[in-house]
Amino acid sequence: MKIHVKTLARLEEVLAREIEEIGGQDIEIGKRIVSFEGSMKQVYRANYELRTAIRVLIPIQSFKARDERELYKNVGKIDWSEYMEVNQTFAIDSVVNNTPAFNHTKYAAFKAKDAIVDQFRDKFGRRPNVSVDQPDLRLNLHISNGQASIAVDSSGDSLHKRNYRTQTGPAPINEVLAAGLVMLSGWQGDTLFLDPMCGTGTILIEAASYAWNIPPQLHRKEFGFMKWPNFDRRLWKEIVEKANNKIKREGPIIMGSDKDFKSIRIAEEHIEAAGMEDKIQVQRKKFEKLVPPEGPGILIMNPPYDERLGIKDIGALYKMIGDQLKQNFAGYEAWIISSNMQAFKQVGLRPSKKIKLYNGPLECKYQRYEMYEGSKKKNQ
Ligand SMILES: C[S@@+](CC[C@H](N)C(=O)[O-])C[C@H]1O[C@@H](n2cnc3c(N)ncnc32)[C@H](O)[C@@H]1O
Repeated sequence: MKIHVKTLARLEEVLAREIEEIGGQDIEIGKRIVSFEGSMKQVYRANYELRTAIRVLIPIQSFKARDERELYKNVGKIDWSEYMEVNQTFAIDSVVNNTPAFNHTKYAAFKAKDAIVDQFRDKFGRRPNVSVDQPDLRLNLHISNGQASIAVDSSGDSLHKRNYRTQTGPAPINEVLAAGLVMLSGWQGDTLFLDPMCGTGTILIEAASYAWNIPPQLHRKEFGFMKWPNFDRRLWKEIVEKANNKIKREGPIIMGSDKDFKSIRIAEEHIEAAGMEDKIQVQRKKFEKLVPPEGPGILIMNPPYDERLGIKDIGALYKMIGDQLKQNFAGYEAWIISSNMQAFKQVGLRPSKKIKLYNGPLECKYQRYEMYEGSKKKNQ
C-alpha cells in the first residue's frame, strides 16, 4: 500500500534515506512529504524508527472537492464503518491550499466531519463523537486546487513528541529538526559531539539517540494504529524487539553546556527522562569560557537569533562564537543554525556548506565551518 510520511521543510531527503533503511519501496519526495510503497510492517517501523517523521499517513481516497457540497458528497461515499465503530471518537486535521471555497481550513474539516457523522446517523441511528485531543481515529484531509485526499493517521500524536520533554525552555528546537540537524551534518556517531548552547538538551538527546541507534520512540506507549481494528500486536512486538536489539553498547562522548543555569537543570531532567545519564554530560558554562577536549569532534549549535530571545548585541555574540572557534576548536567541524543572516556574517569564517532550513516559521541557514588543525593561524 501507499504510505505518506510528513516531515519538516528541507528534511525530505534525510527522511527518504531513513525510509530506504526500513525497507520502503518506490520512494517519492514531495513538499514536506515523502511517499513510498510498503506494508503494515513498514507503517509500524516508520512510526517507531524514523527520526525525521512527523506523521505516518495511509491515504484512503482522492476525489474532487471544489466546494463544500462536493466535499460532503465525496467524503460520504467512503464507508466509514470500515475504519471506526460508532462508539469511537475521531478528529480531522486539515490543510487547504488554493481552493477559494474553503477560505478557512477548519471549515473544510468541519464539512468532512458532518459527512462522516451523517453517514453513521443514517446507518445506525447514532453518531461517533469528535475528540480533538485523544481521538480513536485521526484523519488527515488535504485539499489543493480543488483536489482532495483523505488519509488515516497511523501515528496519533505527532512523532516529534518523544516523551522526554518535561518542560520547555526559552526557545527549544523541535525534536524532529534537531534529529535532522544531526543527520544532515553527516556525523556517524563516531567522534566527540558538543552542543555548547544546549538549552534544554534537545540536540544532545537526538544526537545520542542517533549514535547509539536508539529508536526515537523508545519511550512512547501509544500510537494511532493501536486503536485500529486490524492492530497486529504480535507484529508490533516483533518490530519493537528487533529495533531495540540494534541499540549499540558503546558510543561517543556527548557533551553540552549553556550559560543559563535553569536551562541546564531542564536539560538534566530531559536527559534523565530519556534514560541517557550515562551518555550525555552537561555543565553550566559560557561558550566564551569553554575549553573543549581535543578534536576531532563535531559541534552543533543553535544560538539565539534575536527573534525570540532578545539578546542585546547579537552581532557581538556571533563574533565571539567565531573567535572561540578559531582559538580553541582546531580539529572540529562546527555547524550553526540561525535565521539571523547579519549576525552570521560576524562569525568571520567562511562556511564550507550552507543548507536552507526552517525553524518553525523562521527561514534559517545551517552552516558548516571546518576548523582544520592549523586553521587558527590561517584565520588570524
Ligand atoms: C535557541 S536557545 C537553544 C535551544 C536548544 N537547542 C533547546 O532545544 O532547548 C539558545 C541558547 O543559547 C544559550 N546562550 C546564549 N548565549 C550563550 C553563551 N554566551 N554561552 C553559552 N550559552 C549561551 C542560551 O542560554 C540558550 O539556552
